Amino acid sequence: MTPILVTGGTGTLGRAVVAELTARGHDVRVLSRRTGTDLVTGRGLGEALRGADTVLHLATTLRGRRDVVATRNLVDAAPDVGHLLFVSIAGIDRIPLGYYRGKLAAERLVAQRPHTVLRTTQFHDLIRTLLAGAAKLPIMPVPAVRAQPIDVRDVATLLADLAAGAPRGRVPDVGGPETKSLRELADDYLRAVGERSPMVSLSFPGKVFRGYREGAHLVPGNPAGTITFTEYLAS
Ligand SMILES: NC(=O)c1ccc[n+]([C@@H]2O[C@H](COP(=O)([O-])OP(=O)(O)OC[C@H]3O[C@@H](n4cnc5c(N)ncnc54)[C@H](OP(=O)(O)O)[C@@H]3O)[C@@H](O)[C@H]2O)c1
Repeated sequence: MTPILVTGGTGTLGRAVVAELTARGHDVRVLSRRTGTDLVTGRGLGEALRGADTVLHLATTLRGRRDVVATRNLVDAAPDVGHLLFVSIAGIDRIPLGYYRGKLAAERLVAQRPHTVLRTTQFHDLIRTLLAGAAKLPIMPVPAVRAQPIDVRDVATLLADLAAGAPRGRVPDVGGPETKSLRELADDYLRAVGERSPMVSLSFPGKVFRGYREGAHLVPGNPAGTITFTEYLAS
């Protein structure tokens, strides 16, 4: 069986994707620094790619520029890859964040190979991490924006379905089943962890915040996720 390579297979999304592909009977190979390959330096890349025809590129260094270098190294090292799948973020062309500029550049690099690009909204895990950090402060600061978080298990199912088919280029963006204000999500979080906290609503000047306030990161037309934030917190 030809192995499917998952870059970032040790990450939040990567672990869910590896579990989903394994459950479907695929031979899955994980690429990360922990498994001996560094996408930024290229160390171990040739060996990791050997024999893999389908590659799911989920690794991120959390720095836009380094993500571009990592993606360029991957694309260059895989001239004959049959299907390169890339997970990206909804709204990256409408919110001028440095990390998003890197994602856009990485999307263009991925497009040099037979590819599928799936843009999603924020993962539940990210929203929970942000809210947990904010909840540690005496007054919980909550940006006055909405979010449509999606569960990585839902994204993993979609990616596994896409990996089973032919390259499709950019497919429709997907988001979670509910769109709520961050304040409502903060209420959900506090209820789930059994805490109470006063909240303060925050607004910021600038194009980045305006993009979020206007909902450029939301996918109202395609709420493909099934697991709500409350269900995620309960699990
Ligand atoms: N988080 C969100 O809300 C969200 C929303 C939409 C799309 N996405 C996208 O989904 C993807 C996965 O995000 P995530 O939150 O699951 O990320 P994550 O948990 O931070 O995982 C990052 C993964 O990348 C690997 N990695 C980091 N640097 C590397 C390097 N130099 N070489 C090889 N591997 C490296 C890490 O493994 P090691 O540390 O072992 O190297 C880890 O497996 C990213 O492309 C992200 O932009 C995220």
